[in-house]
Amino acid sequence: MKMYAALKSIASYVPKNQVTNFDLEKQIDTSHEWIVERTGISSRFFASKDENTSDLAVKAGKIAIQRAGLKHQDIDMVIVATLSPDYLTMPSTACLVAAKLGIINKPAFDISTACTGFIYLLSIAKAFIESGGYNNILIIGAEKISSILDFSDRTTCVLFGDGAGAAIVGRTNEKKKSILDVHIAADGNYSNLLCTPRNTLQDQAKQFLQMKGNEVFKLAVKTLASDVENILQKNHITPQEIKYFIPHQANLRIINAVGNRLNFQDEQIVLTVQKYGNTSAASIPMAINDVYESGKLDSGDLILLDAFGGGLTWGSALVYFDGRR
Ligand code: UT7
Repeated sequence: MKMYAALKSIASYVPKNQVTNFDLEKQIDTSHEWIVERTGISSRFFASKDENTSDLAVKAGKIAIQRAGLKHQDIDMVIVATLSPDYLTMPSTACLVAAKLGIINKPAFDISTACTGFIYLLSIAKAFIESGGYNNILIIGAEKISSILDFSDRTTCVLFGDGAGAAIVGRTNEKKKSILDVHIAADGNYSNLLCTPRNTLQDQAKQFLQMKGNEVFKLAVKTLASDVENILQKNHITPQEIKYFIPHQANLRIINAVGNRLNFQDEQIVLTVQKYGNTSAASIPMAINDVYESGKLDSGDLILLDAFGGGLTWGSALVYFDGRR
């Protein structure tokens, strides 16, 4: 019998400290009106001083394991996507997360694909599961982006937030319960548009995130619209068959531009950017979890995901949710 990879559970963790645009107005030259008009964002959450990316990831990961009806002993692999790891080079955040969850003697590694992190995670986990050697893989997008924000740069610091989203990728025999298709891509020619410019050739620490927002915006709209159209066409699926379009939450205008191109109805488009801001690799699983926790995501629902971010990287995925209540 054919075996497919499936999204078995979803979970998230949101730090306690909610920071509104009005809070930021007191610190930098910006306004609630500007931020809402250009991005849709009203607030974001920042982790506390003693909370690191791995701590956020562990909290989401624990719930994802439990919601899949599993124990930590059942997890065969841990993969974390993050652009704000606990340590600059090593150990990987995934190794720290696995240890904190009691998962040892199993592979654990990070991937660096910025905001496209969760789509890449799905693609990697699907390949490992469908190769036959693994049963349950814990994937986590987790970010403490506040630790790499330059709070004197109003063009970036108002956009991002912290958080974590986790999922279990397991097995199913039913195609209509599977991670149907994932497409991932990158073009490093645009690496300077969104980066933390310190590299190993430089002595001067330039660790903060920088972005040429306007250029990224235009590329994101153009690339995502055709990427999403392609994955639907390739799988002979119409936008009407999609229960929810759950895109990376960077900017309301990008989401609406792509959503309108495909004629999605408002109730199909999941929006969390207003509350959480852009949480990079965590944004898609956090958004899926919000729908799940609102009781509106059922087993067998078909969801369409897309993301675009630093690298540049991008991708899309068609997933039948296979989680339980
Ligand atoms: O998640 C990874 C992918 N990331 C994205 O997809 C983000 C893509 N980019 C964007 O979302 C948008 O480009 C931004 C929200 C970052 C910026 O919006 P924009 O409409 O492209 O604005 P802009 O950069 O063209 O700036 C317009 C004006 C500028 O002033 P002048 O030069 O016209 O006088 C900026 O200085 O807005 C000014 N500005 C601000 N004003 C108040 C920039 N940031 C702020 C701010 N508050 N925080």
